[in-house]
Amino acid sequence: MAELTTKLENSSIASPKTQGNNNNPVSPTKNEDLYQVSDRVWLILTEKLGSGGFSEVFKGYKENKSCKVAIKRIKQSEADDPKSKELDILQSTRHDNLVLYYFTERTSDYLYYVLELANYSLDGWIKLGNHDNDTLTKVCKDVATGLKALHKKRIIHRDIKPQNVLIFIKEETGKLVPTGKLADFGISRILNEDEEAALTTKGHVGTQTYLPPEAPEAEEKMELKLSFDIFPLGILFGFAMTGGQHMFSWPGQTAYFEIKTKIKNNEPNWSLLDEKKFTALKNLLQVMLSTDPNKRGTISELLDHPFFWTEEEGYQFLVKVSKEIKNEKACNTAVTFAAQKFLSDLPDWKVRLDDKIQEWIKEKDMELMELEKSKTHKPNALNDNWRKYNGRSIIQLINFIRDQDEHYINWLSSELEDERIFGNKQLPKYRSYFMRTFPELPTLLYNVLQDQKFQRRETAMFYKHNLNSLFELKSK
Ligand SMILES: Nc1ncnc2c1ncn2[C@@H]1O[C@H](COP(=O)(O)OP(=O)(O)OP(=O)(O)O)[C@@H](O)[C@H]1O
Ligand SMILES: [Mg+2]
Repeated sequence: MAELTTKLENSSIASPKTQGNNNNPVSPTKNEDLYQVSDRVWLILTEKLGSGGFSEVFKGYKENKSCKVAIKRIKQSEADDPKSKELDILQSTRHDNLVLYYFTERTSDYLYYVLELANYSLDGWIKLGNHDNDTLTKVCKDVATGLKALHKKRIIHRDIKPQNVLIFIKEETGKLVPTGKLADFGISRILNEDEEAALTTKGHVGTQTYLPPEAPEAEEKMELKLSFDIFPLGILFGFAMTGGQHMFSWPGQTAYFEIKTKIKNNEPNWSLLDEKKFTALKNLLQVMLSTDPNKRGTISELLDHPFFWTEEEGYQFLVKVSKEIKNEKACNTAVTFAAQKFLSDLPDWKVRLDDKIQEWIKEKDMELMELEKSKTHKPNALNDNWRKYNGRSIIQLINFIRDQDEHYINWLSSELEDERIFGNKQLPKYRSYFMRTFPELPTLLYNVLQDQKFQRRETAMFYKHNLNSLFELKSK
């Protein structure tokens, strides 16, 4: 298949408004150059969406021209090659995160795969810019979920890259919501049952800048495993989250052969992920971009990582950790260890909080001191929900977030009723504030607690797999 080529002029494949589906019939415009393939399929020759070595993709219509679709036209000779599994895969997989296949038409020269029409490819959609972090994370999770469905069926995609991920935009309660779907099974392989790897003589197909380091040069033999897909998926996550950067591109070194060398030498450009909002992504990619395919984790294990969590899930994890700390001494010890990493950059977590909150904490501390001085005070009698929080303890930070969540109505209504910080007393905004202020916290704790075997594992639901120290806290 052809080397990375951007097929989408103006990035747009179809606007959500013009895209047809069965609920939203479309009719052809007068000047469309239509080619009738069969009594139920028409190609719009003037609207080519892409082309590769053996195929071309066009916009078109199906069924009385009532529904706009994408049509992939492939030469018979290519489609009939026993190695080609594209049609088998299209027919046998149905999943929300895999491109939807309708049916195939055959003529003497070509096969026409009729597919649902996407609004964008991932690269075109990323180039539009202006996507918030949650939306980008959601799309990454979609693609990973699509890959999980493939891997469950022992299908190796083999050509994961932004051009092979399609974006479908749907309107949901007044908001445009994108869904990512994996497409293009042109060079995919299916492993037999009990087979861990397939032998292929063509290691070097696919897109150069997305090939994992084990892909051999030229036409050497190689063992193709599911882990082959994890590496380019990692590059794709980096591409999406950084607004289109390649994880192996360095300043002044963005040519494909330079990127390839960096991949072979295992030199990802981590400086692309320096901001603290990228902590979870970096921690995940340090695994996915491993040179050793056996250290990349399976797609199911990876999907449990905090990178894919919503802010609310991150918050719920912290609550569970705080319970685990109470019940399990070993948890307390592990969290204290995490604190050393976390707090070496940040000797007092309070300084990250908004000035107003810091001020408020000081006032509360003063109040408590006054109470303690007064003879009438019995410990905890008046102010059960306030204690002095030590800025050098990560356990105290978790407690602070959780305690104040429980009592937030009290303190928000008085001292801190501030739209700017908490969005008018909305609990999700309150939680979101803390998750954005300490974005590294869930990842850090997830790492140090990944292998702990506690009697009372409060966080069990977050650890579905036995991770065997899969994730690592590295400072590079
Ligand atoms: N269902 C679809 N809706 C909209 N656009 C599509 C659809 N399928 C494919 N395309 C566009 O056509 C391009 C080529 O499609 P696809 O990747 O399936 O073909 P290919 O010939 O195997 O390409 P390559 O060889 O470059 O990998 C895609 O990158 C995408 O831009
Ligand atoms: Mg393709």
